[in-house]
Amino acid sequence: MTKFGTIFSILFTVTAGSALAEGHASGDPAAGEKGFNKCKSCHSIITGDDETIVKGGKTGPNLFGLPGRSAGSADGFKYGDSIKALGETEFVWDETEFVAYVADPTKYLKEKLDDSKARSKMSFKLKKEEDAKDIWAYLVSVSE
Ligand code: HEC
Repeated sequence: MTKFGTIFSILFTVTAGSALAEGHASGDPAAGEKGFNKCKSCHSIITGDDETIVKGGKTGPNLFGLPGRSAGSADGFKYGDSIKALGETEFVWDETEFVAYVADPTKYLKEKLDDSKARSKMSFKLKKEEDAKDIWAYLVSVSE
């Protein structure tokens, strides 16, 4: 293979690999749709064309398109400093990060940023990994 070919195939592998990781979902989207009731008091799901998939509260950001989105990047939402700091890194939401975050957002940000003062504005915790995976699968399914 030529040098260019090698570089191209490496780039391709990295890009295709990360796209798969972001869209990867091992849960059940139908169960996740019900599970989203726990999130709805604070989160909506509204598409880029302003189509409302779930009408929810405004305490938290719109979760449309979360799979593959960087942290703290929903338009018009006033995020806390810690998640904004995470958003300034190469971070992208995938199933693993999502499950860990919703289990304990503040603990997650402390570990992720290696900063004991990090805080999340999200006070809710979803401890059950299976429920989190189902909700992730639901978010993937509505974000396509
Ligand atoms: C009591 C309100 C509340 C509930 C309930 C809640 N959240 Fe949140 N969520 C927030 C707030 C506020 C933020 C913004 C966090 C920040 O700025 O630090 C947030 C942020 C997030 C983020 C980061 C989004 C981004 O743009 O980076 C995810 C993911 C998330 N929530 C998922 C969930 C899921 C899934 C549920 C249900 C299991 C849920 N939340 C329930 C208030 C809530």
